[in-house]
Amino acid sequence: MGQGPPPFLELQGVSKRYPNGTLALTDISLAVGEGEFLALVGASGCGKSTILRHIAGLVAPSAGHIQWSRPPAAGAIGMVFQEPTLMPWASIQDNVRLPLDLAKVRRAEADARVTALLAQVGLADFARAYPRELSGGMKMRAAIARALVTRPRLLLMDEPFAALDEITRQKLNDDLLALWRDQRFTALFVTHSVYEGVYLAGRAIVMAPRPGRIHADIPLDLPHPRDEALRTDARYADACRRVSLALADAMGVHATGGGA
Ligand SMILES: Nc1ncnc2c1ncn2[C@@H]1O[C@H](COP(=O)(O)OP(=O)(O)OP(=O)(O)O)[C@@H](O)[C@H]1O
Ligand SMILES: [Mg+2]
Repeated sequence: MGQGPPPFLELQGVSKRYPNGTLALTDISLAVGEGEFLALVGASGCGKSTILRHIAGLVAPSAGHIQWSRPPAAGAIGMVFQEPTLMPWASIQDNVRLPLDLAKVRRAEADARVTALLAQVGLADFARAYPRELSGGMKMRAAIARALVTRPRLLLMDEPFAALDEITRQKLNDDLLALWRDQRFTALFVTHSVYEGVYLAGRAIVMAPRPGRIHADIPLDLPHPRDEALRTDARYADACRRVSLALADAMGVHATGGGA
């Protein structure tokens, strides 16, 4: 390791005990470079959402620190949850513009940004529609647009596509990668799907439960741009296998699949 620039974001020995006594995280150390795309995988309850909540500043660590290369300004962190959480009484364009309204961005500029982003996520024709008129996948596109409209440097995603069918999910994976290539934000993506995590990310962080900790940090090193062809590529299969084995190991399952 050389004396390169400090990482964009670094968790240093972060532990979290919730007030009810649950030790959710223990001694999490994780450095994230600017522009990286990380997948966070692990069993239910191992603390993935808790890590995102710490990074978003929604909870404070019980021990340890979170270090930034530059402290994030307002709007510098976007968040997408499993539920799209749109305001039902507001049109899609009003939903997506909300963070800009809160930041008091001039209306003309805000509208221009919203229009451009809705086009990028394939919702140009639904700007004036209401959330109830959209499918689950379209609502999630709107939620992603809302998270990106402030041009965040960091996008935190907590199982955003878990409720969608496989084809819609794969399409959203491709669209998310296109946005990432275009806007160059740093991305942390929580998923229960090893296949999805490997498809998207440059690195997979595998967590172990009780208490939540990092079990493996696996560089994926697959070619970009990623597309359908990758799904049948032997390197993709191999990366999925490595992450699956680490996950089974983290969960204390003695996997026998694949060799040594
Ligand atoms: N606000 C809270 N108060 C008390 N305990 C909590 C709180 N939030 C989470 N926990 C506990 O902390 C642990 C980690 O929870 P967390 O939600 O981070 O897990 P997760 O990996 O995101 O799980 P899942 O995959 O099911 O979403 C769990 O044991 C959970 O019960
Ligand atoms: Mg969670």
